[in-house]
Amino acid sequence: MIDGTSSTSLVRLVRDTALASGVSAPLITALPGATSLDDDRLRIPLTTLGRLWELLAYSLPEGTAGLRVAESARLGSMPAWDYLLVNGVDLGDALSESLPYHRVVTAAEEHFTLTEVRIPELAEGQILVRNTWMSVDPYMRGRMDDAPSYIPPFELGAPLEGSAIGVVIASRADSIPVGAHVSHFLGWREHSVVDATGAVVVDIDPVPASAHLGPLGTTGLTAYLALTEIAPVNEGDTVYVSAAAGAVGSVAGQIARRLGAARVVGSAGGPEKTALLTTEFGYDAAIDRREGDLAKSLAEAAPDGIDVYLDSVGGDHLDAALEAMNPRGRVALVGAISGYNATGPLAVPDLYRAATKELSLRGMIVGHYLDRFPEFHSKAMPWLLDGTLRTRETVLDGLENATKAFFGVLDGANTGKMLVRL
Ligand SMILES: NC(=O)c1ccc[n+]([C@@H]2O[C@H](COP(=O)([O-])OP(=O)(O)OC[C@H]3O[C@@H](n4cnc5c(N)ncnc54)[C@H](OP(=O)(O)O)[C@@H]3O)[C@@H](O)[C@H]2O)c1
Repeated sequence: MIDGTSSTSLVRLVRDTALASGVSAPLITALPGATSLDDDRLRIPLTTLGRLWELLAYSLPEGTAGLRVAESARLGSMPAWDYLLVNGVDLGDALSESLPYHRVVTAAEEHFTLTEVRIPELAEGQILVRNTWMSVDPYMRGRMDDAPSYIPPFELGAPLEGSAIGVVIASRADSIPVGAHVSHFLGWREHSVVDATGAVVVDIDPVPASAHLGPLGTTGLTAYLALTEIAPVNEGDTVYVSAAAGAVGSVAGQIARRLGAARVVGSAGGPEKTALLTTEFGYDAAIDRREGDLAKSLAEAAPDGIDVYLDSVGGDHLDAALEAMNPRGRVALVGAISGYNATGPLAVPDLYRAATKELSLRGMIVGHYLDRFPEFHSKAMPWLLDGTLRTRETVLDGLENATKAFFGVLDGANTGKMLVRL
């Protein structure tokens, strides 16, 4: 135990130890937000302490060092931050209990299992990411069917995967330094060993990191492409969006408006989400899909018919939209969530209406358009920064709640983007 350790010596000890273990200097010396207090203690924002702690835990041999947290405090004047006050370094404490294991949710015979495994050694060209956010998406349900699709099914007994964001805590890749924030596709785990070629460095200064999984991620890109390329919105159009309070839908209504739509109609489940469509997400009219007859409600909400339909639901929603479509209308077939969990054959809407009205129905898979991110970001980033693109998140904490989040998104438990904070 080093009594009364000053902040300077604490930082020096951490730095020297980590440097001796081959960890690069900038992360240690930066310690963003750390400040010395007059009484010789170091105040470290939790986010930084977590990073520091992981660095120590990852880089030091078991049982060599530990930080003693003397006191924790929530500083009322800084609501966004929790701080820990650290005043000691305990060289005797074993770290074995604290060594990071990543816990992996696997698809096993009995649905899902949370497992713990030791983090493997990094190979040349790989990075170790401490994930901070993971995305929960309806398409993941399709990967749980053993059927050929645009993306292979999940394997039984193997970790699930999906989009995630995290901070690099060790790197054997010249292109991505420790401390960088990256987005990658090895989510559903707390730590990911990722090939640097499979990670994209993201800038989390102007927007929260989670935005890169929501409005700036593939969900935002899906809404943008659906309405600009797959079923382009023209000036004066009436646009209908289903699952309109969800991740894609909450952005889509606002994009339709920017593209010159004269009337934007959305449907969502339940009174609270339906109310948000008009008060927050820029819709002119909202339909509660759980109340009344959908086709009738749509006819009332769009009395002059609809020109563009962004379909996230399929089934009864596509049927009602085909009925309401104006001649030469355009439908972006983005998803069909009403059937994702179905156990029997799905009802197919009568497509003869598409022939007689000369409609265009076009599908899309956003993964085939990732080269459009720069174009999309150049538009969406300013909208987010000036506050005119309004977004919501539904956040569950901890990997142990990831499956709850997954079933929630299939049931409509989310408003805006469904995320798990790790
Ligand atoms: N093609 C692509 O590349 C691509 C990319 C991203 C997303 N997608 C698709 O786009 C859709 C939306 O994705 P998202 O990530 O933005 O999810 P989301 O809309 O945030 O969440 C799904 C929403 O679907 C609604 N829903 C669930 N079951 C329904 C049912 N039986 N009938 C009507 N609505 C139902 C629920 O909202 P309410 O209860 O409020 O209705 C639920 O919150 C999904 O179909 C997804 O697969 C496709």
